[in-house]
Amino acid sequence: MCGWVHVCACGGAEVTLGPCPSAGRIYDYVLGGRHNYAVDREFAEQQLRELPQMRVGMVTNREFLRRAVRFAVESGIRQFVDIGSGLPTQGNVHEVADEVAPGECRVVYIDNEPIACACADPVGGHGRSGTALRALR
Ligand SMILES: C[S@@+](CC[C@H](N)C(=O)[O-])C[C@H]1O[C@@H](n2cnc3c(N)ncnc32)[C@H](O)[C@@H]1O
Repeated sequence: MCGWVHVCACGGAEVTLGPCPSAGRIYDYVLGGRHNYAVDREFAEQQLRELPQMRVGMVTNREFLRRAVRFAVESGIRQFVDIGSGLPTQGNVHEVADEVAPGECRVVYIDNEPIACACADPVGGHGRSGTALRALR
């Protein structure tokens, strides 16, 4: 499986993936997303057997992120750097920010997971208010 190519359905760039499960794709799987593979799902299911509360922890974390962004925008913040942003899902930082202050906020998404960056590409994912950068380590 090493060196296989992922073509993102959201229109982002092609990326070459390694053989290991990825934290970002595991998170995506547990949250019900589509950007994950058998290697990620098997690892996630193994973890969920060991730690069943992991799913509610991830969902709660995501809800906290949205509340925190909403609070920050309501407090006047207009620029965000989302480090370890994960794969795009519903209620991404720029979407929450746009709900509170339409067209005013800018978000830079940073992740070292190749699919996260491909999907967060301005054309494929986050639109005008977001920019995606790949962390190399
Ligand atoms: C648990 S997810 C969190 C997603 C999102 N921030 C949230 O709260 O819903 C953690 C993300 O951090 C990324 N990550 C881990 N280490 C990183 C690093 N050194 N540089 C950039 N991103 C990293 C992973 O690829 C993964 O997508």
